[in-house]
Amino acid sequence: MKKTVHLVVNGEPWELDVAPNDVLVEVLRDRIGVKSPKIGCERGDCGSCTVLLDGRSVRSCLILAIEADGHSITTVEGLGSNGGLTPVQQAFVDSSAFQCGFCAPGMVLSVHELLSCEPNPTRAEVEHAIAGNLCRCTGYHPIIDAVMEAVAAAAAGRAVVEGALAALGAKDGHADCDAEVQA
Ligand code: FES
Ligand code: FES
Repeated sequence: MKKTVHLVVNGEPWELDVAPNDVLVEVLRDRIGVKSPKIGCERGDCGSCTVLLDGRSVRSCLILAIEADGHSITTVEGLGSNGGLTPVQQAFVDSSAFQCGFCAPGMVLSVHELLSCEPNPTRAEVEHAIAGNLCRCTGYHPIIDAVMEAVAAAAAGRAVVEGALAALGAKDGHADCDAEVQA
């Protein structure tokens, strides 16, 4: 018997009737039309179906749509603002970090989750963040290099802003990131 679920996908509310065994990645792709989560292994190994569920990265091939009822889901289509790319997405484009791109959405979201709580990660932390995202063609060095370049550029930008604010005697206005990743 079908059940009505309510999802917020990239900020847009959806009400859908789903079967008990409908998997979230299939609902996102086939019912909602969000195509960036890719169906690879379908058993939680490859990370190509990664989405953010209330800000946390999850394998959408392992989650039933009914389990996502009432939750907020973000895919790469929902990152950035005004249709623009995030700095990490732009760095990936600029450096041609991917070849076929099948793994790219999952990689971007795993890195996004990391940076939402640690804006200045080490290379090892980036490696750890994408450890569950398999890339079959590029290899990982160009991908990690692109992330580190984006991180360095963002840090340089923050230093300029914070220096200007300090000169004005103002506080930096950055919110502390606690243990919980924000949705
Ligand atoms: S398709 Fe979900 S982890 Fe591979
Ligand atoms: S670029 Fe092809 S799987 Fe990663």
